[in-house]
Amino acid sequence: MKKLILINLKMYLNSQSEVDNYLENIKNEKNHIIIFPQVHYLEKFIKNGFVTGSQNISVYPSGPHTGEISAASIKDLGASYTLIGHSEIRQNKNEDDQINQKIKIALNNNLKVVLCIGEDIESYNQNKTKEIIKNQILKALKDVNEEIIISYEPVWAIGTGNTPTNDEIKDIVNYIKSLFSYNIKVLYGGSVSETNIATLNQIQNLDGFLIGKAGAIPNALKKIIEVTQK
Ligand code: PGA
Repeated sequence: MKKLILINLKMYLNSQSEVDNYLENIKNEKNHIIIFPQVHYLEKFIKNGFVTGSQNISVYPSGPHTGEISAASIKDLGASYTLIGHSEIRQNKNEDDQINQKIKIALNNNLKVVLCIGEDIESYNQNKTKEIIKNQILKALKDVNEEIIISYEPVWAIGTGNTPTNDEIKDIVNYIKSLFSYNIKVLYGGSVSETNIATLNQIQNLDGFLIGKAGAIPNALKKIIEVTQK
């Protein structure tokens, strides 16, 4: 079955020419991926027919919040999704408390939510992964009734080249699915690359991948699409 491929471009592309060059290289893949660029490049991807999302949204709906980017403005540009709770943003100490509010604001503005969750290395070593992610889910989804997507991203796997084993991912994905009354889509993220994608793609209960670094490299991305979209 075809898997969802989400590309978190983070701050990898930092000029119009870099974005244009990237777009030129991957434009034929637009039906296979959902792309999360820096917000000021969203329009370029949308104009080229890509389905897009933002990497974050403000916890405030509107008003005097300098430097913030509202869910309403992202939706108005034509984006369809937003990531919420990425671990690189959770490092900011207020983020954990704001995630529930952000999810509600995103859904109110008809953005689809991809909630990122995952344990750090200490919790992994202490076998506390399920406890941690259950708490993250309960806190994030308090009084949220709409369907969302979850991306399971162990903090220790992001950008490190390390990944859990297929069995470990499968076990966590089943566990996450067991916490929901609907058939929730669960993705895996953390060092997915052109070299490990064939192995990771064998995880049966997984609905797709959230990919950072390898997604910013056209040839790596094409290989990932080739393997996952058969
Ligand atoms: P990575 O990032 O693929 O570079 O590890 C994944 C993510 O942060 O979503």
